Amino acid sequence: MSSGAIIVTGGGGGIGRAIAKRLHADGHTVVIADRDRAVAESAAAAIGCEFELIDIGNEASVISGVKAVAARHGGLFGVVNNAGIHMQALVVETAVEDWDRIFSVNTRGTFLMSREAARIMAAQRSGQIVNIITKLGFGNPFSSAYLSSKNAIWGLTQCLAIEMASSGVRVNAIAPGHVGPGTGMEKAFRAKAEKLGKSWDDFEADVVATIPLHRWCTPEDVAGGVSWLMGPDTSFVTGELINITGGFQAYASTPSADSVRAAAERGPTK
Ligand SMILES: NC(=O)c1ccc[n+]([C@@H]2O[C@H](COP(=O)([O-])OP(=O)(O)OC[C@H]3O[C@@H](n4cnc5c(N)ncnc54)[C@H](O)[C@@H]3O)[C@@H](O)[C@H]2O)c1
Repeated sequence: MSSGAIIVTGGGGGIGRAIAKRLHADGHTVVIADRDRAVAESAAAAIGCEFELIDIGNEASVISGVKAVAARHGGLFGVVNNAGIHMQALVVETAVEDWDRIFSVNTRGTFLMSREAARIMAAQRSGQIVNIITKLGFGNPFSSAYLSSKNAIWGLTQCLAIEMASSGVRVNAIAPGHVGPGTGMEKAFRAKAEKLGKSWDDFEADVVATIPLHRWCTPEDVAGGVSWLMGPDTSFVTGELINITGGFQAYASTPSADSVRAAAERGPTK
């Protein structure tokens, strides 16, 4: 269907794999970009698409990987910046190395991929970039590095959308709510439950109670949003943030004062 390939970063697992599968089913030429060869290879084989080993936090890897995909497929139809990592820690216990690690993948990686894609798309005078962030606009306990890194991507999205508009390149963001089960983030949700002193069942019940549509988001829900943005009906959509959250607005759970004091006394942990 499309001319040029769509690169899906982090397409080896979780939400990225569902996005790659959906875009392939839509008729696009999809290339999974992941730093993990085993998951990339197995996802690409299952979907019937290609993969390219790219570590999005590494400038040289991004430059050569994006160039190679565009050369193989006669350009870039799009890029889905989905790869991202999480950690669960209160601000008072966050080591600077962990803060930098989260930013180096989520923010720096999305910036590098967007920059290299935009260089090719500027010459093509076409293309679109979709950044997978997370629901913004509220505090999320134990998630300061993650949420800050994702807020930064929203800033990048808005700036790039303006800069590339006259080149016919559109840039949007999708903010999934709680996808959790079956994705890499499930580990992070389980760590959050533990830190809040809740059983998994109680934590899940709390999460679902905050979602008006009363269920977890699925990778396929997110993939449906990406499919729409990459489809034929969005030529007037740029610089937008699309929430796919089941109506979720904010967290109610807070860590106890005792647990915060204990963590503050311990300080950053590595
Ligand atoms: N799962 C959720 O509940 C949830 C909610 C909101 C937003 N998100 C966002 O959706 C995206 C996908 O989340 P997920 O839970 O499916 O993740 P996941 O852990 O299941 O998969 C992430 C993939 O990214 C790859 N990856 C990690 N670092 C990379 C790097 N430096 N270079 C290339 N590939 C790299 C991993 O190998 C993996 O295949 C992330 O950006 C995440 O922040 C997830």
